[in-house]
This record gives sequence, structure tokens and C-alpha cells, in this order.
Amino acid sequence: MNRKHILIVGGTGMLAELTSYLAIEQDVTVIGRDKEKMASIVQRNPETCHPLIVDYREEEALSNALQRAVKQRGPFDRVIAWVHRGSGRAMQLILNHSENSEVIHILGSRANPEYEKRCLCLNAQQTYRQVQLGEMHEMASVRWLTHDEIVKGVLDAMQNQDDYRLIGTRKDDVNVHSRND
Ligand SMILES: NC(=O)c1ccc[n+]([C@@H]2O[C@H](COP(=O)([O-])OP(=O)(O)OC[C@H]3O[C@@H](n4cnc5c(N)ncnc54)[C@H](OP(=O)(O)O)[C@@H]3O)[C@@H](O)[C@H]2O)c1
Repeated sequence: MNRKHILIVGGTGMLAELTSYLAIEQDVTVIGRDKEKMASIVQRNPETCHPLIVDYREEEALSNALQRAVKQRGPFDRVIAWVHRGSGRAMQLILNHSENSEVIHILGSRANPEYEKRCLCLNAQQTYRQVQLGEMHEMASVRWLTHDEIVKGVLDAMQNQDDYRLIGTRKDDVNVHSRND
């Protein structure tokens, strides 16, 4: 089987189940800082899940780590990036090392998707998609998404090739929305 190379940035937190699921059939490189958290994810698929322990706010360390991963396993076919806001050039550096990839940029609920996209330099060979985390309205209360809901929403967005998907709801929205721009 021709395995793809997938990069998951922040793949040891709320995306951990996505990391493990994709590593069943693909080579998955995972970025995180905490060695114990990383080890617990890698041991589920030790042959195909490859750790990159790096702080993505450290530009040189991030660039070197991404270069190393590409050299070892080939270019990234797909990138799933959950990068905290205020992390400097991290997202741009990830894009710079993913020239021919399908990139899924995961945004928190407070992010402005158009602004986030405008801030980035994309190249013509790259596909850039956004998945935004919303909230869940249940009866009279509002709660954050569960990790399962987030993982399912990201997988759905990948399968449907949505340019933008909101998981959950925002204000008066109901259910999962997708928009192809
Ligand atoms: N609805 C929303 O909009 C929304 C938004 C944000 C969060 N949440 C909820 O809040 C919970 C906690 O959020 P969270 O942001 O802590 O997400 P998380 O996905 O649980 O953890 C963040 C991930 O990014 C990695 N990471 C963070 N900073 C990093 C850095 N500087 N360099 C490299 N890797 C880094 C972490 O690994 P290390 O810890 O090893 O560094 C981890 O894998 C989530 O479980 C989610 O359910 C909801």
C-alpha cells in the first residue's frame, strides 16, 4: 500500500484520537512538547506514528524539525494544524514546509477565518482549508465541543473537502455547517 505522510500539529491533545486513527494506515508525524503525552500516543502505533518534540513558537527549531521529517519520510501529503493564536510565525513556517499539501487549519471559536487566511502566504500548489471549533447548544445551556465531536468534525471536513467548516454552532446557527467558497 502507498502510505501517505500526514503532519498533525497539536496531535497529542484534543486531536489524539485522530492521530491514532490516521496512523493505522498512514505515516503520521506528530508535533507536541510533552514527552509523556507524546509517548502515550506513539505507543499505540509505534511503526507509523513519529514524534517531533518541538515548541512551535521557536522558529528555527520548528523549521529544522519539519525539514528532518520531510527528509526522513517524504513531503507531507496532508497537514492538520492546531496552532494556538499568538504563536508568531508558526503557521506560516508549517505552510512553508508543506508546499504541495492539503492543509487543514483548525481555528478556535474566537478566530476570524478570513483574517487568519489573509495573514498567511499560500502557494499555488497548496490546498488550504479551515475547520473552526464552535460550541454546542443543549436545551438552555452552551458547552464546548467534546474531543470526539472535534475529531469527527475534522474527519468529515477532510472527507467532504470543505474549504470551511464550523463544528457545532455559533450564535443562532444550528448543527454542523459547511461552506465551499
Ligand atoms: N471550542 C473552542 O473553540 C475551543 C478552543 C480551544 C480549546 N477548546 C477545548 O479546550 C481544550 C484544551 O485546549 P488546548 O488548546 O489545550 O488543546 P489540546 O489539543 O488539548 O492541546 C494542545 C495541543 O497542541 C500542542 N501544543 C500546544 N502548544 C504547543 C507549542 N508551543 N509547541 C508545540 N506543541 C504545542 C500540545 O502538546 P504539548 O502539550 O505537548 O505541548 C497539544 O498536543 C481542548 O480539549 C478543547 O476541547 C475548545
